[in-house]
Amino acid sequence: MSQIEDAVAKHYTTGALTDRVRDALKASGVDPDAATVADLKAGDEFHTGGVLATDHLFDQLSLTHATRVLDVGCGIGGTSRYVVDRYDSTVTGVDLTPEFVETAAALSEIVGHSDKVEFHVGSALDMPVPDAGFDLAVMLHVGMNIEDKAGLFAEVARALATGGSFALFDVMAGETDEPLAFPLPWSSVAETSFVDAPELYKDAAAAAGLELEAETDRTEFAIKFFEEVFAKIAESGPAPLGIHLMMGETAPEKFQNYVANLHAGRIRPTEMIFKKTG
Ligand SMILES: C[S@@+](CC[C@H](N)C(=O)[O-])C[C@H]1O[C@@H](n2cnc3c(N)ncnc32)[C@H](O)[C@@H]1O
Repeated sequence: MSQIEDAVAKHYTTGALTDRVRDALKASGVDPDAATVADLKAGDEFHTGGVLATDHLFDQLSLTHATRVLDVGCGIGGTSRYVVDRYDSTVTGVDLTPEFVETAAALSEIVGHSDKVEFHVGSALDMPVPDAGFDLAVMLHVGMNIEDKAGLFAEVARALATGGSFALFDVMAGETDEPLAFPLPWSSVAETSFVDAPELYKDAAAAAGLELEAETDRTEFAIKFFEEVFAKIAESGPAPLGIHLMMGETAPEKFQNYVANLHAGRIRPTEMIFKKTG
């Protein structure tokens, strides 16, 4: 693991996460040993817009039960479970943070997905997966921790079969090049944050032999989503189960800075879908 990767994994490690998710389920009135995929959704999709964003991305893709899916930077496996639940596909998740991988496996076992998913600790730049082993790679809110975008795209292209797709949803650089306000959900300091312009992603993809099929700026969606989240919290307080469980004590500050950066045009949550043609 590189020094940056080590620092990133430390950033995401908050301790006893599986137990805290179980406690939050109990506090929400759900038996943790009988939790469903839907019960977990409020706390297991660690990206802007949660499952609404996942729906938007997957509604543009064609999956069947036979689609072999790679979840790059899978976190605690929310998107992996979404895929198994919606399509009955098989999923391999890879993530840098051991605590997240452990929680991903524990939660997937609870919902009965153990025979459909496997999770591995590993870097997106050197994934423990075979060449051409996947029909679809997805990556949600991971690239902001990875400086080497060319290496990232080359590694995903290696893992994809010809004709396979790569669908991503990342926080990319906005129109202004003002410095970002920190801490942010993916990094508390500038040194482990690599928020790049959409053009850089597209250049890296082209160099790896991936052809752009779709690109969507999700800024308006993100602004509306956070307005609704903040209104709900003002009305009834934070729910026990939420992505704040993965963000430590500074979670409120991280959310506020994210929204301030969004309104200032410093960041632009963006979806891209590529195809491996060659
Ligand atoms: C904001 S979370 C998103 C998790 C998940 N994709 C989701 O949407 O719920 C970012 C994730 O990227 C992982 N990550 C960051 N850098 C990585 C790298 N170089 N290789 C693999 N995973 C990485 C982190 O460990 C973390 O789980």
